[in-house]
Amino acid sequence: MERTLVIVKPDGIKRGLIGEVISRYERKGLKIVECRMIEADKATLEKHYIEHREKPFYEELVSYMMGGSIMVMIVEGNNAIKLVRNINGKTNPVDAEPGTIRGDFANTMTENIVHASDSVEAAEREISIWF
Ligand code: CMP
Repeated sequence: MERTLVIVKPDGIKRGLIGEVISRYERKGLKIVECRMIEADKATLEKHYIEHREKPFYEELVSYMMGGSIMVMIVEGNNAIKLVRNINGKTNPVDAEPGTIRGDFANTMTENIVHASDSVEAAEREISIWF
């Protein structure tokens, strides 16, 4: 059994896609075991995105994530980390396959609806930041 951290980003909330996102995980047999709607502060986002702090898109990313409410959740199930990333689709919406969340709903790299942990270590670290 694995746990992974998912964030529905401000564009996902504004576009009314919370139910769509959650139902895709649930239909795959995954469970939402914790869930909170919050407005993220800068310090928490800086911790969350520490691996990207030198990247050219970092400032834009952090300020976009403060531009509206987000929903943070813990998703649990067998192979939850990989399954959730498959359901989300590739980061770049140009490469995200139709049938994935990003493939169906995203059209920019920053505003791509969801975030999910990419490894067991990242999931543990990110869950401890938000919960
Ligand atoms: P996320 O899974 O939240 O992790 C880092 C985020 O940075 C990513 O989703 C994108 O929303 C955002 N981002 C913006 N530009 C880029 C880029 N060029 N490469 C990767 N991620 C990017």
